[in-house]
Amino acid sequence: MNSECDMIPKQFTPDAELLAGRVILITGAGSGLGKALAVESARAGATVILSGRNGAKLERVYDEIETMGAPRPAIAMLDLASATAVDYDNLAKTIDAEFGKLDGVVHAAALLGDRTPLEQYDVPTWCRVLHVNLTAPFILTQVLLPNLRKSADASVIFVSSGVVKNQRPFWGAYAVAKSGLESVRSMLSKNSMANLTFA
Ligand SMILES: NC(=O)c1ccc[n+]([C@@H]2O[C@H](COP(=O)([O-])OP(=O)(O)OC[C@H]3O[C@@H](n4cnc5c(N)ncnc54)[C@H](OP(=O)(O)O)[C@@H]3O)[C@@H](O)[C@H]2O)c1
Repeated sequence: MNSECDMIPKQFTPDAELLAGRVILITGAGSGLGKALAVESARAGATVILSGRNGAKLERVYDEIETMGAPRPAIAMLDLASATAVDYDNLAKTIDAEFGKLDGVVHAAALLGDRTPLEQYDVPTWCRVLHVNLTAPFILTQVLLPNLRKSADASVIFVSSGVVKNQRPFWGAYAVAKSGLESVRSMLSKNSMANLTFA
């Protein structure tokens, strides 16, 4: 997604304290890429805010990080399909009260949806996938900008997909949402916000 990522050696191992003192919120932290990023960020010294919709999964990741002896994580329950303005505002307030700043957000949560021709694509699924994969990360980023501005050099990572560059006929709302997410990232990057990087 970002050409800078191509410059990272394949065998990259971060220094143990690379992310010491950093506070990073990761969506979709209960499984897959989000979980792996959460565990490795904690291993590199970050305080990770584990966000997701499944408390049991998040607690398992929490326990794994605690057992490693990494900084104690936090859990932020947020169902991106149903979160309200109050839920987003409460999250931003809680992060401010608990940590005073936010150094990073990784938008890893996503729904795959249907893989069918657009002619047959289920419209409610279309709306749900676009909401979870595009609208919700946009809202979350917007709401958390004041927290991110309290960091000296915060980053927001939008996890995209190869289906943006290599459009395939049956990837429907997922591909459209990921294309939109790249547009959101591009617009935020061009808005030249001091101390903020969008990737
Ligand atoms: N896997 C790949 O080959 C691949 C390729 C390109 C890009 N990606 C991208 O990489 C990211 C991670 O994918 P993955 O393969 O790790 O998928 P995954 O294991 O299915 O993880 C997706 C995460 O999103 C969460 N999620 C789904 N709906 C949610 C909602 N309404 N509210 C909050 N969280 C929700 C899921 O929570 P639950 O556990 O509760 O379902 C899960 O933790 C995604 O953005 C995906 O598009 C993946």
